[in-house]
Amino acid sequence: MNIANWLEKAKTKVPNLDAELILLNILREKDRTYLISHDTRDLTEVEEEKANYFLNERAKNKPLAYIINSKEFYGRNFYVDENVLIPRPETEDIIDVVKNILAQNKIDYPIIYDVGTGSGCIAITLKLELPNAKVVAIDNSEKALEVAKKNSDTLHSEIILNKSDLLNNTPDNNIDIVVANLPYVDKTWDWLDFESLHYEPLSALYSSNDGLALIYELINQVSARPDIKHLILESDPSQHQKIIDYCHKKGLELVETRNFILYFVD
Ligand SMILES: C[S@@+](CC[C@H](N)C(=O)[O-])C[C@H]1O[C@@H](n2cnc3c(N)ncnc32)[C@H](O)[C@@H]1O
Repeated sequence: MNIANWLEKAKTKVPNLDAELILLNILREKDRTYLISHDTRDLTEVEEEKANYFLNERAKNKPLAYIINSKEFYGRNFYVDENVLIPRPETEDIIDVVKNILAQNKIDYPIIYDVGTGSGCIAITLKLELPNAKVVAIDNSEKALEVAKKNSDTLHSEIILNKSDLLNNTPDNNIDIVVANLPYVDKTWDWLDFESLHYEPLSALYSSNDGLALIYELINQVSARPDIKHLILESDPSQHQKIIDYCHKKGLELVETRNFILYFVD
């Protein structure tokens, strides 16, 4: 079967873009125009078998990122599997907020902690964008840290990986910035499409107390540490006011809200 025929068949089962991305992944090509310019190229038996397998997985609603083990974040490709959350575009704002903090506060050699690093997408991106930074990536999941290590090696970023429950085990006592995209989904939310989250690790998604338990715990830790000046949190916008109020009680002031992201100073 040639490329055009396979795509024709695949598009009856999954969205066009997904079909194209499956084939590009298998053919190790990046550019979608390749599929048009080579539409009469025959797939080998192995390629076709693999493409059909991926197609059937996608038709069962498995996220494409877990099928092709790849997701782009801030312009770079990260390896992902079912041990880590698939990086989301809304999380990219954290990178820009950190860049602004460093520029505005003239911090040249920052120590940055990424709490709940998962695939390592935030920590690794920060290290690659800000080579002078010392970046420590924390997770309490051994398997997530293995994925972060794999990404750190592939993308040649020198981050420090640290197994810890939030900030309980931190080798530094002069942290400048803490960033965190912790689990913030509550299982009782009836407005959320839980079907779409079915394949992602429970430990990366859910937190009790309306999704805020871990975020509150981290705020407690940060507010008790005089060295930590800047805290950046991701959460659903519906939770923002509660987080702002909680931070206010703990002496942290809101500086900026950007889509899913909140930035506080202590
Ligand atoms: C929502 S995922 C975020 C992953 C990644 N930072 C991103 O933005 O794509 C949350 C991560 O926090 C980790 N986590 C959950 N509870 C934790 C805790 N108490 N201490 C450290 N990490 C935790 C999970 O294992 C998971 O990898």
